[in-house]
Amino acid sequence: MADLIEALSGRRARRAFDPRTVPAETQELLWRAVSVAPSHGNVQSARLLVAQSKGARDKLVAALSEGNRNWAPAAPLLVALGSIPDHEHADSYGEERALWSFHAGIAAGNLMTQATALGLVAHPMAGFDEAAVRDVFGAPSELRVLVVFAIGYPGPVESLPEDLQRREQREQRRQPLDRLVAVDSWGAGNSVPARDPSRGGRRSGKLER
Ligand SMILES: Cc1cc2nc3c(=O)[nH]c(=O)nc-3n(C[C@H](O)[C@H](O)[C@H](O)COP(=O)(O)O)c2cc1C
Repeated sequence: MADLIEALSGRRARRAFDPRTVPAETQELLWRAVSVAPSHGNVQSARLLVAQSKGARDKLVAALSEGNRNWAPAAPLLVALGSIPDHEHADSYGEERALWSFHAGIAAGNLMTQATALGLVAHPMAGFDEAAVRDVFGAPSELRVLVVFAIGYPGPVESLPEDLQRREQREQRRQPLDRLVAVDSWGAGNSVPARDPSRGGRRSGKLER
């Protein structure tokens, strides 16, 4: 357990999936990892929307951005993660700091960590039509959908189109720790973005579409 960093570093947002289904008891471990996530005042505002039937799955695929539809349909399990802002404490920091979104982030981290430990890929996607995702499940407008996960066992990279094969094999580049961590005082390095915002396209820091 002390070496959790090794397992965390092994997580990647891979796009190549094996068609093998994720057994129900394995899925339940993912949901349980989300259920134990901490939240402000224990509001537990995060919610998981699992597309199980073919109908729900097809509609969820249709709600994804075009870029994500190139690969995500190969994942045997598609799951949306949302949060209900109304469940936050109105009289506390929760609303001001959008902690409902933060709670979904912690939930997502737990889910991805548990998935990695199980040998699964859980690839988060922000590229989707939020209202359409809500419609798939008949969810109320008070639910904010933050991310859709493509989940499954990793598959051969050759199953992907060539451009995605290259992306799949790219090394994981991360900010050096001296940019990430400010000790005692903020340094010039702490302001350096991981991706240059002045450059267009994928390097701009914009959400992927
Ligand atoms: C909130 C969030 C949204 C993301 N949205 C997408 C997406 O719509 N499509 C996609 O292919 N990848 C998406 N990603 C995956 C990131 O591109 C990926 O995590 C990042 O490039 C770092 O690579 P790594 O996860 O393999 O370390 C998203 C990741 C996060 C955390």
